[in-house]
Amino acid sequence: MSRGDFLWAGWSMLAAFFAASAAAGARFMFPNVIYEPSQKFNAGQASGYDLGVSTKWLNEQRVWIVRTPSGFYAMWARCTHLGCTPNWWGDQNRFKCPCHGSNYTMDGDVIAGPAPMPLWRTKVMLAPTGDLIVDKAILENKPGKREEPPYFAPYAAA
Ligand code: FES
Repeated sequence: MSRGDFLWAGWSMLAAFFAASAAAGARFMFPNVIYEPSQKFNAGQASGYDLGVSTKWLNEQRVWIVRTPSGFYAMWARCTHLGCTPNWWGDQNRFKCPCHGSNYTMDGDVIAGPAPMPLWRTKVMLAPTGDLIVDKAILENKPGKREEPPYFAPYAAA
C-alpha cells in the first residue's frame, strides 16, 4: 500500500465516522413518539339521549353516557379493580363486572366486589350546537367533585 492510499483510507474512515455521528445526531432530533388517537369525541346531540344509561359508545369509545333529569355525565367503562369492562344491567340498575364480580351503582359507586374506588367519570361538555363532547383524558371519581362541571353537563330539555 502506498503512502497516498494509506492516507486516503484514513481520511475516508474519518469522514465516515463524522457522517455517522451527524446522522445519529440528526436522528436524535426526531424522538420516537407514539401518536395515539384523540381522547375527545363528539357523542352526538344531547336531545337524542333518553333518561338513564346509554351504551351507544361502549364498543367504540368505552364510555357510557348517562342522562339524569338535570343533565349528563359520561363514565369510562373500566372497572377500577383490574380494568375489565363492566356491563350495564338495566333491570338491576347497576353495572356488573364479569371478571371478579364488582358491582357499581348508576353513579359509579362500588356496592359489591373487590373494586377499590368508584368508576371514573370523564369530562363532558354541551357544545353550542347541542352536541355532547366527551374528553376521556380528563377524569374524576370523587363524590362531590364528579357531580360538578366539567364532569357534569347541565341540560334542561326544551
Ligand atoms: S376487574 Fe372488575 S372486578 Fe376485577
